[in-house]
Amino acid sequence: MNDFIDAAVEQFARDHTEPESDLHVRLREETYRVMDRPQMQVDAIEGRFLKMLVRVTGACNVLEIGTFTGYSALMMAEGLPDDGRLITCEVDPKAEAIARRYFSESPHGSKITLRMGPALETFKTLSDPLDLVFIDADKANYSNYYEASLPLLKPGGLIIADNVLWSGKVLDPQDADGHAIVAFDRMVQSDPRVENVCLTVRDGMMLARKREQ
Ligand SMILES: C[S@@+](CC[C@H](N)C(=O)[O-])C[C@H]1O[C@@H](n2cnc3c(N)ncnc32)[C@H](O)[C@@H]1O
Repeated sequence: MNDFIDAAVEQFARDHTEPESDLHVRLREETYRVMDRPQMQVDAIEGRFLKMLVRVTGACNVLEIGTFTGYSALMMAEGLPDDGRLITCEVDPKAEAIARRYFSESPHGSKITLRMGPALETFKTLSDPLDLVFIDADKANYSNYYEASLPLLKPGGLIIADNVLWSGKVLDPQDADGHAIVAFDRMVQSDPRVENVCLTVRDGMMLARKREQ
């Protein structure tokens, strides 16, 4: 659910968004049944927005940092062409097992490669140019993920970061994650390498497009 929009208005928006697939509904239900912090999963609107961003940018090579149970990866994979590829990074084996099961059920799952291990280690093994990066893992490393992504990102490519409003606590951060998010937001805002917009979708999404020059 959106942290900032009236619940009834949010429901109206959901009712006027391409519905989730049955697979996504089942994945959401299982995640809420068995995982400790299911609200980490993106919601249906943000998921559909991620798919739309993949589509409208024409992205073919996508990197996701923070798979969890695979909901956002499956949404973005739906937006990829048949020969598109998505690498997604995770450290939690319980989340991994669920994600792999749903990837294998989806007609888009063959586009997805799940890489286990700290994402900054996985970055060291990547060299192919990226069209789009979705950052949605440990907040302390957001700035590191951003810096690691930019050299791999094609000119005109897009970095998307989730939770950049931290439930509104960016106005008065009280914990380390809140401070990390504010530092990340400031860094992107002052980065001449990108043009950016901070959206109030759900818990806040930062979109940063790498400039051509
Ligand atoms: C907010 S959840 C991701 C939600 C997912 N994008 C979705 O919509 O379902 C963050 C995930 O990042 C993972 N994570 C935390 N630290 C990580 C790291 N250093 N490298 C890779 N993944 C990490 C966590 O285990 C967790 O599953």
